Amino acid sequence: MEKSQQYQIDPQKLPRHVAIIMDGNGRWAQQKGEDRLYGHYHGVQSVRTVTEVATELGIEYLTLYAFSTENWDRPSQEVAGLMQLLIQTVRKEVPDLNKNNVRLHVIGDMEMLPEDARQEMQEALEETAANTGVQLILALSYSSRWELTRAARLIAQDVQAGKLSAEKIGKDTLAQYLTTAPYPDPELMIRTGGENRISNFLLYQLAYAELYFTDIKWPDFNKDAFLEAISAFQMRERRFGKTGEQVKNS
Ligand code: IPE
Ligand code: IPE
Ligand code: MG
Repeated sequence: MEKSQQYQIDPQKLPRHVAIIMDGNGRWAQQKGEDRLYGHYHGVQSVRTVTEVATELGIEYLTLYAFSTENWDRPSQEVAGLMQLLIQTVRKEVPDLNKNNVRLHVIGDMEMLPEDARQEMQEALEETAANTGVQLILALSYSSRWELTRAARLIAQDVQAGKLSAEKIGKDTLAQYLTTAPYPDPELMIRTGGENRISNFLLYQLAYAELYFTDIKWPDFNKDAFLEAISAFQMRERRFGKTGEQVKNS
């Protein structure tokens, strides 16, 4: 955790919520002549690093895309390895999460998870529930289209049950039916691994996020890389549809 002074971070202009697509583990390993799972194992250190940096800086919410609903279609050996890694990591990290006051959350289709992984996650959520520092949200078996479909179903059910009237559906209603309802929208979305796409991640919530793409593969994403992303974010002008002049004068 050295060399942080290289990037000027303005503590007044921090994003409250950073979302990260942790991509490039498989290619990182393959470049080293290793199995893809070797990359996933090394990616855990980057998760620790970004959580520590978020804690140091005072970033309140960190959402990490760990596994998409599409990732279930990967070779079964990789999926099984990832589930084992999830179980081991969660079990091992909970004491540190508690020490650092980090609260774990999960968004995604938990019904798809194998029973032991679901159980482990559930326990970790309960064991960290009282923590008030960084809110670490794992997107696990998550995709936006799954989430939006689920929201449509829940809204329809509430309308049918008379709990919600169609006329009352306003600009904020949909957000309340998403799995992210308790959290503010991310202001910054980082994708590592060199691909310039969203891959079904937080499509609704990222409407006005600043998008930051880096070629650095996830296992190599260190403190400096994270600070560089935040520094780049702080140099952007966020206009929200207004003119640059309006923004400067506000
Ligand atoms: C991201 O790394 C982690 C998961 C999707 C689980 P990848 O496994 O997609 O790595 P690449 O993109 O193939 O290098
Ligand atoms: C996105 O990465 C999902 C996660 C990082 C968990 P993928 O590697 O699955 O995305 P695509 O397939 O390249 O779009
Ligand atoms: Mg990938």
